[in-house]
Amino acid sequence: MAGQPELGVPWADALSSALSADICVRLSPEPESEVAQSRAGLIVLDWPMAFSPRLLRARVLALAALRHGDVPILLCIADPSVRDKVNAQRLGIAVVCDRREPSSVLAERCVNVWQDAVDRRLGTMVDRTGGMMAATMRTVRAGGFPDTMAMKAVAEQIAGTVADEGLSQWIDRVRPIGDQACRHCFLIGGVTAFFLQRLGVRASDVVQMTEAVLFHDIGKALVPLALLDKPGPLTARETEIMRLHPALGHDLLVRQGGHNAMTLSVTRHHHEHLDGAGYPDRLSGREVSDAVRVATICDIFAALIEPRLYKAALTPAEAIATMKEMKGAIDMDILTAFEGVMMPALSTMPAMKHAGRDAVLSEGPLV
Ligand SMILES: [Fe+2]
Ligand SMILES: [Fe+2]
Repeated sequence: MAGQPELGVPWADALSSALSADICVRLSPEPESEVAQSRAGLIVLDWPMAFSPRLLRARVLALAALRHGDVPILLCIADPSVRDKVNAQRLGIAVVCDRREPSSVLAERCVNVWQDAVDRRLGTMVDRTGGMMAATMRTVRAGGFPDTMAMKAVAEQIAGTVADEGLSQWIDRVRPIGDQACRHCFLIGGVTAFFLQRLGVRASDVVQMTEAVLFHDIGKALVPLALLDKPGPLTARETEIMRLHPALGHDLLVRQGGHNAMTLSVTRHHHEHLDGAGYPDRLSGREVSDAVRVATICDIFAALIEPRLYKAALTPAEAIATMKEMKGAIDMDILTAFEGVMMPALSTMPAMKHAGRDAVLSEGPLV
């Protein structure tokens, strides 16, 4: 756990305080077991004495095989020579630090290396899944059906990413995406997955619900682009056309077949209000299922925190405050739980924001 100087890593406390309070700094003389058990975000080898390159090589290879994805290894030794750095680079070690530097400097290096790795992982993931989302929207626009296997894969990757990297990192990465449909899907998908994960919902159910919300606005691919891209407010007639999207999306998925009841009902009913003032079926009260209530809250939140052509993005706190004004329309109990999850995760944090990964610190063997 955070800060156990008796294990001989003098700057563990500095690293703990540079990271978010949610990130556990695991100290262990045997990092392999820690890395195997936890989803490490950073592996630090702090080797106080002269070391055997052979031993280092064996340890790094073992760690590289155990780590989950592209996780940087940082080596900390006294007065590293150029040869040390070249050898370390050959082994795939991201950075070699001089352990005689002040602990705050070393902690900062760790945070930077970690953040670079997060950016790299998120960039790769968003490029790949963004392409899949865009292809699906293009296919539907051209009269085809969505690629359900691709959407399931995207849902799995979003759920895994917010669990590993945290929602804040995910939102920072996807909010600047130019394609509005893709951006909105990524935001609602990440928000929904993270919310359910924090409520303790089973992983397979999280993926299923994330998949359902990825489809929720699929009907917009059947609405004229001129309306979707209109920079100003819609006329009454345009609003009427836009409001067809839940039913259009639902009809599309029914025609395609193979979609579960939750996906169909989230797609059709995510604009229903508990007081009966929503659309398209003017459902009210218990006619609106819990899954739809959750999807509606995640949808409104995602829409409020993203910039649109006709409005600026709200902060998470402003979005929640706006939603609290929607009494009667949305489920206030779910909104309270939602606020309890979102606010700590999205408020300003130390350099490294919340993540589901831990830092693993290890003192090397004395040889
Ligand atoms: Fe919608
Ligand atoms: Fe939406």
